[in-house]
Amino acid sequence: MDGQSAASPDYPKIGGQHKDYLAKALRDYKSGARKNPVMGAMAAPLTAQDIDNVTAYYAKQPGTLASRY
Ligand code: HEM
Repeated sequence: MDGQSAASPDYPKIGGQHKDYLAKALRDYKSGARKNPVMGAMAAPLTAQDIDNVTAYYAKQPGTLASRY
């Protein structure tokens, strides 16, 4: 729900990720520019409005992104 996946390298943590980054990833899965069977299927039915909504939601969740240097 908050975009913090279980501790597995197979599932990225998207909570708090930049909205533009998330939207590009979903557009690329949808177009086939980025290939992954699971996410390709998840992204296929999404409209541009859906992508705007879902990425706004996840970008607002608390995240683990940090500037360390
Ligand atoms: C609201 C539902 C979901 C959204 C908005 C979403 C969004 C995303 C995004 C933005 C990425 C790219 C992350 C990155 O580049 O750092 C991603 C990758 C991924 N997601 Fe999802 N996801 C959702 C549901 C799921 C579900 C239900 C599964 C598994 C059953 C899943 C499995 C994966 C996997 C395995 C990847 C990595 C694929 C790769 O290597 O390209 N996602 N997801």
